[in-house]
Amino acid sequence: KIIKGTGFSSINLQEIEILEDYLFCINDDGFIAKRLSPNDQDYNMVLKQARSEETLMELTEGQYLLPGFIDLHIHAPQWAQTGTALDLPLYEWLNTYTFPLEAKFSDITFAEETYNHLVDTLLGNGTTTALYFATIHEEASFLLAKICAEKGQRGLVGKVVMDDPAENPDFYRDASLEEALTGTERFIQRVKELNKTTKQGVYPVVTPRFVPSCTSEALEGLGKIAAKHDVHITSHCSESDWAHNHVKERFGKNDAQVLNDFGLLTEKAIMAHANFLSDDDAKTYIEQGTAIAHCPISNAYFANSVIPIKHFADMGVEIGLGTDLSAGYDPGIYSAIRQAVISSRMLEDGVDPSKNAASRGRAHSRITANEAFYFATAGGGESISLPVGRLAENYAFDAQIIDTKIKDSSMPIFEGMNSLQDIFQKLVYMTQRRNIISVFVQGERVK
Ligand code: GUN
Ligand code: FE
Repeated sequence: KIIKGTGFSSINLQEIEILEDYLFCINDDGFIAKRLSPNDQDYNMVLKQARSEETLMELTEGQYLLPGFIDLHIHAPQWAQTGTALDLPLYEWLNTYTFPLEAKFSDITFAEETYNHLVDTLLGNGTTTALYFATIHEEASFLLAKICAEKGQRGLVGKVVMDDPAENPDFYRDASLEEALTGTERFIQRVKELNKTTKQGVYPVVTPRFVPSCTSEALEGLGKIAAKHDVHITSHCSESDWAHNHVKERFGKNDAQVLNDFGLLTEKAIMAHANFLSDDDAKTYIEQGTAIAHCPISNAYFANSVIPIKHFADMGVEIGLGTDLSAGYDPGIYSAIRQAVISSRMLEDGVDPSKNAASRGRAHSRITANEAFYFATAGGGESISLPVGRLAENYAFDAQIIDTKIKDSSMPIFEGMNSLQDIFQKLVYMTQRRNIISVFVQGERVK
């Protein structure tokens, strides 16, 4: 299969490559085997052959190709309350709204309805890979992985562990430490089997909800299970003052250090939020290859905080973006990209140092659209250690086609006035769901 069109892909945090009129040659496994620019010798020959063999798909004027987005942090069961319940602080929000909702996923019919609707919605929004928190229920969590497998989304799915009877409500917690650990191992094995039936891949994830909800024995056991099965790990880390201080009181150290002590910060670990990470914690992330799932919308609601993301990016921490549904209200990563830029601008020190005035922010905090786009694509791929997030050779062909001229949602792009660099920024800031006309995962069209 060959796709002809203009695409945009990150080279690094700062730079975007503009792939004008390229041919993307996709092999049977769904990877980009070759990328040809119009200056390449073979271009015309390959184009002619694809036309004669009818394997060519050509973007029309005003259509552009972007890599599919990677959502590094989303709570699938919270889909039903998305857009509501944003009026309470984290601890009360969990107990009032979220735990009662998640407890309902013992009902597999409810789970099926919710998860089908959510996975369709994410694909429609250009999210080709998602790292999901499911619930404590094995069957409903496995069903989510199955739905990703069937719909062609690359799903990384965690069966949540929250075993501490002192910290979790009776109606929603693991029956016992033993059950939490054996259930996790069984889940890992089942998803690994399921993975063999998919082209795009589905992956099990070791998922202690956050340190406050787990006993030390559970955290220790999960670290060992993750090492034994070489699987991804996810959790929340240093999200709010409450969560951060709770861990500090219990262990006398930051969550990052506690997670590391239990073997839960690894190359395949992705930790949500990290608002109150110290520089020493960040260095631990870098040493271990652990990534931050940056969730700028939910950080505004539940952390009352702007993470100095530019600072951590400059230090070299791997960073991707998360919607954090339902602590974030939008299922699409476009909103997370935009909020990442906006929040960073709010943290920036707006005071001219020469005026001798008191600082009201943190200098060098702002990030650009290019940087936020990098987090949503290439950075997300690096965070999960999978070849996704770039329109580059040997990467999976995960992509979205954006139509800038679609009726009722056409973008203000004027010939002779807007360069392709401008158009890239307009795609980042102005794409609406209806502009996303096609979505591909691993070379297969899923929308
Ligand atoms: N901390 C523990 N559980 C959750 C959750 O479901 N959402 C958020 N935002 N933070 C959490
Ligand atoms: Fe979360």
